[in-house]
Amino acid sequence: MARTSRFPGFYKVTVAERRSLVSEATGTEVIDMERALEAGGLDADTADKFVENVLGTYGLPYGVALNVRVNGLDYVVPMVVEEPSVVAAASNAAKMVRAGGGFSATWDPPLMISQIQLCDVPHVGDAERDILAAQDEILAIANASIPGLVSRGGGARRLHVRQLGEPSDRMLVVHVLVDCQDAMGANLVNTVAEAVSGRIGELAKARVGLRILSNLCDERCVRVECLVPQDALATEEMCGSDVIDGIVNASRFAELDPYRAATHNKGIMNGVDAVVIATGNDWRAVEAGAHAFASRTGAYRPLAVWRRAGDALVGKLEIPLALGTVGGTLRVHPAARLSLRMLGAPDASTLAAIAASVGLASNLAAVRALATVGIQRGHMALHARSVAVAAGAVGGEVEKVATLIVEARDITIEGARQAIELVRVGQVEGAIVSQLDE
Ligand code: MEV
Repeated sequence: MARTSRFPGFYKVTVAERRSLVSEATGTEVIDMERALEAGGLDADTADKFVENVLGTYGLPYGVALNVRVNGLDYVVPMVVEEPSVVAAASNAAKMVRAGGGFSATWDPPLMISQIQLCDVPHVGDAERDILAAQDEILAIANASIPGLVSRGGGARRLHVRQLGEPSDRMLVVHVLVDCQDAMGANLVNTVAEAVSGRIGELAKARVGLRILSNLCDERCVRVECLVPQDALATEEMCGSDVIDGIVNASRFAELDPYRAATHNKGIMNGVDAVVIATGNDWRAVEAGAHAFASRTGAYRPLAVWRRAGDALVGKLEIPLALGTVGGTLRVHPAARLSLRMLGAPDASTLAAIAASVGLASNLAAVRALATVGIQRGHMALHARSVAVAAGAVGGEVEKVATLIVEARDITIEGARQAIELVRVGQVEGAIVSQLDE
């Protein structure tokens, strides 16, 4: 948690100066940032302990989303993402949301689902009855397999039995709901599934099939809302009220069309995933859960929707988020640990609320741009910097070359090469400000 997450002109200062500003606001030492973030935060020897057949590491940009306020507290939010404009857009939209008081978030308890598949069940009704009658015994077996979690206040909480397919499939699945506290929980619930499966199979007189967590962790959802005053949404060309209408229209499009909903949700995941990666969490699990949840009605739907409320815009996002702040990668990845320190060592639910808020901010930025000038102006302006680098611009040339190719509407490698020549022979000044925070 930070003293403030507002840093006007943050983009204009050097990387070293940004580290000092974030250090002052979050209490994270600059030296810790230097150590954790130089060279991607992970050396090859440490990486060799993570996965197999390691040759080295693969770096990605580590930025911070600014202006983020969740439940009245400010956060400087680490984001790891390769796509230009995602960090700037989230920061910009978070500033608009801030004008309405920031994000408000609520969450479910951190319940994960452990699945035990039962096959060739002779009588599914009897099996369901007998398993539920033995709930206390099964929960006790589950808890005995995860004593560490139980001692931290977590543990198996209840069972849920579901019949799959037709009676002729003779298949049941038992869910054991496990409160994972601040762990993501995959290892814990897999342990539980294996521990209880023998007894459950006996009770059902059935063959035990798969024993594994479900990534559709719909008992572990986070809900984020925001209210944005219309004045905060206005652009140079459009008044705030028209922008609200445009955003509501964009929301309806996503609600009515899965082709659009997929892209709408991708915009949300731009923000969510970047925080998930920066904090050392499993983004494939988060992606799988998010899209399965988006399809829960049988149609693929947007995870966030937008409506008018008088002179304001109201956005609501609901998403399952299994994030951890202890265990796994977090123990060993210096940059992931740094990210959590920068966020004030949040518990897993607060981290999920922050990630979801950045997701809603990313969505707001995207739909506002789409409903007004279109996405390309801002996106290409920021993309221009990578094109400039790819064409050979170095140091202070990058910003100048990027400005030139944006102004010339020629954001290509060839355009950038010509711009580099101009910069090297002449006096070209400028900076790209379209999406960056003044
Ligand atoms: C690009 O990464 C994300 C967007 O396509 C999202 C959207 O269309 O809502 C801009």
